[in-house]
Amino acid sequence: MDNAGKKISVAVLASGRGSNFSAIADGITSGEVNAEIKVLITNNPDAKAIDVARKNSIAVEIIEKRKFKSREKMDLGIKKVLDRHNVDLVVLAGYMLLITSKELLNAYRNKIINIHPSLLPAFKGSVHAQQDAFEYGCRISGVTIHFVTDDVDGGPVLYQEAVDISACKNAEETAEKILLAEHSAYKKVVDSFSKGTYIVEGRRAIFIRKD
Ligand code: GRF
Repeated sequence: MDNAGKKISVAVLASGRGSNFSAIADGITSGEVNAEIKVLITNNPDAKAIDVARKNSIAVEIIEKRKFKSREKMDLGIKKVLDRHNVDLVVLAGYMLLITSKELLNAYRNKIINIHPSLLPAFKGSVHAQQDAFEYGCRISGVTIHFVTDDVDGGPVLYQEAVDISACKNAEETAEKILLAEHSAYKKVVDSFSKGTYIVEGRRAIFIRKD
């Protein structure tokens, strides 16, 4: 992979297992992803993602909902950490809370990305989109990476990839197959930010490569 371009500074927000976070960190180690993860922010002190951060010597900030008077104040706590680490990109990787603060969303407009395990707008807003796709009898589902806005799972789409789930026997198998695509997709998209920028025009995110 061509790794010319500026190494980008990244913050990852995760609440649980952290397999996407781990895939991106591994991609950095292998040279596939031209980025540096400055900090993991989690709302869950028991998140497995914390072990991933420790293994990769990445700073951890635990920002728990119960320690703030409101969600706005919590999100402003997150903003402070992002500002302090001077990050170019914020990667939501299984972060289970919605970012609702306008101040945070405006300050990091078109700099916060999320991964959703379906081809949006299918199963938009669902926290079990893989199960939904299996139960619906979909033959094709997939992965969407999009900018985060105040419309849940509704921001401009940066990347989509279809996954053939027609042979999957249950929701778990469906989720596993989609997860593999998530890992490779997230590495590609995070790396792309070192090679250019995304211009947003209406609903479209257009990638402009730096030469
Ligand atoms: C992934 O399926 C992601 O698409 C969804 O939450 C899951 C997080 O998994 N938003 P992990 O924590 O990255 O393993």
